[in-house]
Amino acid sequence: MYKIAVFVSGRGSNLKAIINSIAQTEIKIEIVCVVSDKIECPAFEIAENYRIPTYSVSQNEGKDSVVYSELVSILKKMGTDLIVLAGFLKKIPDILIENFEKKIINIHPALLPSFGGKGMYGLNVHKAVFEKSAQVSGATVHFVDKIYDNGKIIAQECVDISDANSPEEIAEKVLKVEHSLLPKVIIKFSDNKVIEKNNRIYLL
Ligand code: GRF
Repeated sequence: MYKIAVFVSGRGSNLKAIINSIAQTEIKIEIVCVVSDKIECPAFEIAENYRIPTYSVSQNEGKDSVVYSELVSILKKMGTDLIVLAGFLKKIPDILIENFEKKIINIHPALLPSFGGKGMYGLNVHKAVFEKSAQVSGATVHFVDKIYDNGKIIAQECVDISDANSPEEIAEKVLKVEHSLLPKVIIKFSDNKVIEKNNRIYLL
């Protein structure tokens, strides 16, 4: 069984897409827990509907939350193979990156390295894409390292936005791409079909 932990901060539509993709195929993937920087969020409600354990994490000692050092041991005890950031808005602390080297991936709603970095999240990304009059956008799945949106790119999928009239329209088109791309990449990890060669990432 390939075990993943999904980190969320809001709506949870990517979490739902992952849950749906697991349900629709015979792939042996288990979401062992859902983690958020929030005490409550719609994504937690989705997790609770599927009886997936949830953890609220903070840098400090919060009354209902675990601190990152506790979270590392919880994730290791659960046998977590991959951490998936699906709309998690906080920077991942070094302790997690050091304990899960090359096992943390993130989905970004643009074609990195363009339109990425600190502050580039949610509608901010699509506003920047719109204002530049970019004609294509898309989604990127990449490894997470100690710099925002900087890790090696694993997969990308483009979408035509030449007819977009607003950043919201772009967001809608890109979200559809995210929902198809992220589950595909997770399945490739579960099949051990993500390799690094000549400093590049290949999906077999
Ligand atoms: C997605 O657009 C994702 O690319 C970005 O945050 C958003 C999360 O949406 N990192 P949801 O919570 O999965 O609906």
